[in-house]
Amino acid sequence: MSLKMLAPIHTPVLVNETIKALAVQPGGRYIDCTLGAGGHAAVILDHSSPGGQLLGIDADPEAIKIAEERLEAYSGSALLINDNFTNLQTICFKYDFFPVHGILFDLGLSSLQLEDRGRGFSFQHDGPLDMRLSPDQEVTAADIINTYSQVELAQLIKTYGEEGYRRKIAQYIIKQRPIETTLQLVKTIEQAIGGRRGKIHPATKTFQALRIAVNQELEHLKTALRQAVDLLGFNGRLVVISYHSLEDRIVKQFMQQESRADNARLRLINKKVITPSQAEVQLNPRSRSAKLRAAERIITKDEYFKTTEKLCFSVGVEAGGWRRPVLLERLRRAFSAA
Ligand SMILES: C[S@@+](CC[C@H](N)C(=O)[O-])C[C@H]1O[C@@H](n2cnc3c(N)ncnc32)[C@H](O)[C@@H]1O
Repeated sequence: MSLKMLAPIHTPVLVNETIKALAVQPGGRYIDCTLGAGGHAAVILDHSSPGGQLLGIDADPEAIKIAEERLEAYSGSALLINDNFTNLQTICFKYDFFPVHGILFDLGLSSLQLEDRGRGFSFQHDGPLDMRLSPDQEVTAADIINTYSQVELAQLIKTYGEEGYRRKIAQYIIKQRPIETTLQLVKTIEQAIGGRRGKIHPATKTFQALRIAVNQELEHLKTALRQAVDLLGFNGRLVVISYHSLEDRIVKQFMQQESRADNARLRLINKKVITPSQAEVQLNPRSRSAKLRAAERIITKDEYFKTTEKLCFSVGVEAGGWRRPVLLERLRRAFSAA
């Protein structure tokens, strides 16, 4: 199937909620850290027109090609970069793209990646046990499956898959090695723990664990979240959509810590997590596990005092000489992304 034919298959999740949480405005500057097929990016560009700008990042070069086609109409306003979002800050410094009004992470995989049997992400199609987001990465899922010890495999399946049957699965993997394809691995897991029980396929958790390990997903998310806050302008929004509890826990804890600290840099927009409506889940079953969290960049006490000093110094006026509304307006302008 050509890229163009595949592209319409990926439907962006929680689109309206994302636009609202990002508070997208005409002329705004946004970063989509997980460009995918460009679904969210297209809507952000629509809502930020006229004058909006978008920096789109994806680790997968195939995703960049698809997004380039989809966003052709916005080519003057969108800069698309094939890189890992763990390098977010370096990318923004390189292209002088900061401060920004909003940053979006729509984590995980696109339907296009899941459906591409050559990538080895899905336990429903036979393919090589690869699972790398980018061909530049060295370690594949097959490398892990065929070289880790039984203890290491069990640990990985527990930590990243939260799988109760980890020891049994690890034991059978060692017995059946070498395992090179997705269906070989599925059969091994079924032999270890039996067939489908209830709604969840027995291979779901092990496949999740491998994908997270191959792409160092949790480490990269933690790094990128920290960088994202530094890139947001005053009142800028950080929006994260996650699809499993390990990611959501990281996002929730990060936003809570940043909003509770004495020198808080974030304010939570939605105290309760936002999930898709039943109607959306029916239309797009992939959205069923989605959780959206959003926060706003606020000025910290330190920044407030440093900026006050700078402003007062620059115009040679004593701090006490400023009337508060004027100062606040100046602070707002100093930190605003515009
Ligand atoms: C759920 S899809 C995004 C779909 C997109 N929002 C849309 O509407 O088309 C997630 C995308 O994030 C990318 N991705 C995941 N982890 C990444 C990382 N650490 N760095 C860069 N891209 C990443 C994947 O390659 C995938 O294309």
